[in-house]
Amino acid sequence: MQIIHTISDLRIALKSKANIGFVPTMGNLHAGHIHLVELARQHATLVVVSIFVNPLQFGVNEDLASYPRTLAEDCERLKAAGTDIVFAPNVLDMYPDFDGNHLNQTMTVTPPAIADVLCGASRPGHFTGVATIVMKLLNIVQPTLAVFGKKDYQQLLIIKEMVRQFNMPTEIIAGETMREPSGLAMSSRNGYLNEAQRSQAAQLNQALQHVASAIKMGNRDYHALENHATQQLNQANWQVDYFAICSALTLQAAQISNKHLVILAAAKLSNKLSGQTRLIDNLEVQL
Ligand code: PAF
Repeated sequence: MQIIHTISDLRIALKSKANIGFVPTMGNLHAGHIHLVELARQHATLVVVSIFVNPLQFGVNEDLASYPRTLAEDCERLKAAGTDIVFAPNVLDMYPDFDGNHLNQTMTVTPPAIADVLCGASRPGHFTGVATIVMKLLNIVQPTLAVFGKKDYQQLLIIKEMVRQFNMPTEIIAGETMREPSGLAMSSRNGYLNEAQRSQAAQLNQALQHVASAIKMGNRDYHALENHATQQLNQANWQVDYFAICSALTLQAAQISNKHLVILAAAKLSNKLSGQTRLIDNLEVQL
């Protein structure tokens, strides 16, 4: 496995290579990421994984500075998972106009309206940052396919839409969310939680499961289901950003006629060490 830090070296390594599978990450890898690498391995001849904590997708009061950076451990795991190349650029290589704090001169990708709701509403600018870095990485790696996790469901739809609208020649493959035995979706941010919070964190998935069962049993009062779940979580010491039952294709509020739904939630758990930890999760429901 090669570890490459510059765009020019990566271009040399990938010259005349075909059937490249790509997994973009921000590092601090867990079994969820490894599952995405395995998917890429199944479909491609050469697997490239990027590790880059993208400043452009963090809001001013978010955890950019404290985001865990664990390159050596990540590379060990990636090697064991059959990765061919790890691409770990520095900020100035990816954003030459970055002056330490500002990215004012950086040209960005404006995502479509699907990015304005849910996480896009609670994290202004986040999906512009995600779409921009993914556009840059896809331009650099030029993969045949790229794998994104369903855990970031809204991100996945935005990337699919970007690739479609910009006619990019990369197939986007979706990987299932990996979970702890408690149901908690695997996430790098779970590392911020202590043991008690980690077991409490499973409540988010339980709330999604509960609503999914109610829908499957025929309950179509989506607003009441959303409100009830929000109330229950808030009473259990969560601060809910959103709990929404949506069309899985458009992320608009679910209509009775929609057959493919996704229930999405984002909520914060208070954390004495690092303030609040914001967790997201979702569950698809096929009627
Ligand atoms: O999902 C992530 O880890 C990031 O949003 C991504 C796609 C690597 C872009 O920085």
